[in-house]
Amino acid sequence: MNSPLSSAIVFVWIWLNKQRLLCCSMPSLPIHLAHPKAPPIKCQGIKTKLVPFILSHVRWQEHSTARWIEPFLGSGVVAFNLLPQRALLADTNRHIIQFYQAIQQGTVSGATIRTHLQQEGSQLERYGAAYYYRVRERFNQQGDVRDFLFLNRSCFNGLVRFNRHGQFNVPFCHKPQRFAPAYITKIANQVDWVAQQLHQRDWKFQVASWQRVLAEARSPDFVYLDPPYIGRHTDYFNTWSQQDAEQLAIAAKSLPCGFALSMWLANQYRQNDHIDRCWNGLEVFTYRHFYHIGSRENWRGSMAEALVIKPGFAASSIASSTIIK
Ligand SMILES: C[S@@+](CC[C@H](N)C(=O)[O-])C[C@H]1O[C@@H](n2cnc3c(N)ncnc32)[C@H](O)[C@@H]1O
Repeated sequence: MNSPLSSAIVFVWIWLNKQRLLCCSMPSLPIHLAHPKAPPIKCQGIKTKLVPFILSHVRWQEHSTARWIEPFLGSGVVAFNLLPQRALLADTNRHIIQFYQAIQQGTVSGATIRTHLQQEGSQLERYGAAYYYRVRERFNQQGDVRDFLFLNRSCFNGLVRFNRHGQFNVPFCHKPQRFAPAYITKIANQVDWVAQQLHQRDWKFQVASWQRVLAEARSPDFVYLDPPYIGRHTDYFNTWSQQDAEQLAIAAKSLPCGFALSMWLANQYRQNDHIDRCWNGLEVFTYRHFYHIGSRENWRGSMAEALVIKPGFAASSIASSTIIK
């Protein structure tokens, strides 16, 4: 039997099985993750600690056409721990996006990073701060993604900060022996972990503004929003005004799909009134934690983080959350 009809039946049967296998391997939220892993890039507002809270509060069923969308990717820690089959991951910071594209294309791996950090780390040990600033200048001229990682992991406080000319300007962390063998191994393993997560997954990394990314969202997708703190940073890629925040709230509310937004809710001094003003009608879940800056006892504070979720996409019952009126 080799008729066109039997070939069509075989084709449909193979396609259905492929879809079934794909669906079985797709995550659906909520998930309970005890120990999230950290990616190689560090940035302000990184959500490593909050990943279990975020992924256990969102409800989303992934299927063959659905995408996990993050317009404010940063370190990528949420997507790398969730591991959706399809994703659109964007940021206006091209250095972050190019770094992950290089891992995806195989031009950067744990092995190439190990070699680079060994070479550059030994020069840093020998010449100290002067060498750090030489690499910083080279990066600002040439933009090599391996130099970006070197700077990100040896600058003060692991910051990602660029001046208004788009030049990386974070000072040295003052530790010439920064790249000890165990630290290099840790970073190389983080790069290998990302490469492994990307393997056979349909993920697109894109340099784009959040407006362009949200315009691509379709009803089966889910959008996770983690914009910069309003008025907090003076970074070229991270300026975020009251007006930006208000426009994002309007655009998010008209999305055809589910979404969740991370934002600080309160610290010991004040409440974030932007949430009450702009995210009314949505569910808000709260996570409290302590932060610690510097070495002094009195530089500690308590912070409440909010996860604002579109109604119908929250995993927990309404009783454990607040609905903003
Ligand atoms: C708070 S961080 C995201 C942190 C990330 N969720 C994580 O856990 O690492 C915000 C990110 O938004 C990016 N960003 C700032 N303004 C943007 C804009 N207008 N459009 C897209 N991305 C922007 C910044 O470059 C930064 O990486």
